[in-house]
Amino acid sequence: MKTLLVVFHTHGVKTARMAEAVEHGARRALAEAEAEGEVQVVVKRAAEAGPEDLLGADALLLGTPETFGYVSGMMKDFLERVFYPCEGKVAGRPYALFISAGQDGSGAQSSVERIVTGLRLRKAHEAIIALKALTPEVLAQCEELGATFAAGLAIGAL
Ligand SMILES: Cc1cc2nc3c(=O)[nH]c(=O)nc-3n(C[C@H](O)[C@H](O)[C@H](O)COP(=O)(O)O)c2cc1C
Repeated sequence: MKTLLVVFHTHGVKTARMAEAVEHGARRALAEAEAEGEVQVVVKRAAEAGPEDLLGADALLLGTPETFGYVSGMMKDFLERVFYPCEGKVAGRPYALFISAGQDGSGAQSSVERIVTGLRLRKAHEAIIALKALTPEVLAQCEELGATFAAGLAIGAL
């Protein structure tokens, strides 16, 4: 059984809604492929996730708001807590980001991408960045991201 891990932080609701869409897309894709028994989808808040979650994950989707031009503090805390326990043990595993921001998002993206370089995670999809209000288009992109990762894990093509 492979594991798709979704870790997110939210101060309000936007990143949480993006995470829900990611999870929904992943579960839909697995149901359509009748592959629920091959991939499990685990969704955790950053504060509740730890090294054992990342070590057990075959692929990772990270969701964070942008705060002060950077990754949100709680997501940074997660990345700090997992860094040494996972360093050298998760190299090559695919990841992608979904980001919620008021007007930018590039600071959150670049800061996470720089941090996970140290873990040698492999970027497998462009970051999805939601600016201002969430739109149906962005939520559809999040669903597609979850579906792509889940289906990719199921068929070994990620
Ligand atoms: C303390 C704080 C700092 C923020 N800094 C930025 C920022 O630097 N750039 C930006 O585009 N949005 C910034 N925002 C806006 C949030 O990124 C945006 O409202 C986001 O959608 C919140 O997501 P959430 O509802 O999941 O918490 C900031 C919000 C807060 C509360």
